[in-house]
Amino acid sequence: MRKEVERILITDDQIARRLKTLARAIERDFRGRELVVVSLLNGTVIFLADLIRHLNLPLHLDFIGVSSYGAGTESGDLIFTKELRLDVRGRDVLLVDDILDTGKTLSRVLTKLRALKPRRIKICVLLDKPARRVEKIKADYVGFEIPDLFVVGYGLDYAERYRNLPYVGVLHPHVYQPPAKTPVRHERT
Ligand code: PRP
Repeated sequence: MRKEVERILITDDQIARRLKTLARAIERDFRGRELVVVSLLNGTVIFLADLIRHLNLPLHLDFIGVSSYGAGTESGDLIFTKELRLDVRGRDVLLVDDILDTGKTLSRVLTKLRALKPRRIKICVLLDKPARRVEKIKADYVGFEIPDLFVVGYGLDYAERYRNLPYVGVLHPHVYQPPAKTPVRHERT
């Protein structure tokens, strides 16, 4: 385990098992339909790659690039870095993201997607952190509900690092919190 990771929250085995269950639920709901999987860059890539290999459905894959401005732990303003290329009008869309946190990202993306008139949109997220929600939004498929902890790994980053960790881990606060100032003692000479 990396020294910046305080503890492992979800192991790679737990993720692998949960993904199979999620895939079965998605297959049941979309049986007989061809799916357009729309995945949000960048954090989703590892989750997406594992999930779709369990999906026994015909599907097309496309990406929307969206990112919170800045490198901190708070979601801020959003910028779109890549637009959807596939036509989703009248299609069944599975929108995939790594984490549903405040909900600002998925809420903005949903508004954009709905304007393209798909037949239906279902949301799938690996992690759901309801404690920080500010937008009224729910995912249809959730891998794991987690408490309000700063997590990294399995695609999730802090300042673009730790995405390649095979598990979801809790980042040690010293990584993102500046060290507390120690009072400087001025000795009289
Ligand atoms: C993260 C994450 C989600 C979003 C969730 O993306 O991948 O898309 O934040 O937060 P929210 O529910 O508060 O909007 P980020 O902007 O960090 O980009 P990334 O996917 O490139 O890591």
